Amino acid sequence: MLGSRGFDLWADGYDKDVQLSEENDDYPFAGYKEVLNTIYKLVHKKEGARILDIGFGTSLLTKKLYDEGYEVYGMDFSIRMVEIARDKMPRVRLVEADISKGLPVEFEGLDFDYVISS
Ligand SMILES: C[S@@+](CC[C@H](N)C(=O)[O-])C[C@H]1O[C@@H](n2cnc3c(N)ncnc32)[C@H](O)[C@@H]1O
Repeated sequence: MLGSRGFDLWADGYDKDVQLSEENDDYPFAGYKEVLNTIYKLVHKKEGARILDIGFGTSLLTKKLYDEGYEVYGMDFSIRMVEIARDKMPRVRLVEADISKGLPVEFEGLDFDYVISS
């Protein structure tokens, strides 16, 4: 299983790998768009919902939701993924943290309409 350092190293080439794997209907991202679309449609049941994305990566889905006016929050244990996502969404609260250690203090006391993870 890939640790945070592994994802740090993968981060800059991640979007390209997703695209190639999707196009070739190949491991590990065959069906990826379908998965993201399913989540995307689900959260649209509530306008302006507050969403926590755990493991947002390069923020392919998070950024789309953010651009549509959703109140998004995110956590990811890869510092490089966090940096990439922060560049795209400077005002979003994105925390570098490992979900296996629980929710970070930054999110304590917050209620979320949806918690997503892909
Ligand atoms: C395969 S990527 C998916 C990224 C994004 N959700 C997407 O669908 O494009 C998995 C992401 O989850 C993060 N991640 C994996 N294990 C995690 C953990 N225990 N805590 C926080 N983030 C984690 C990785 O750093 C990586 O950015």
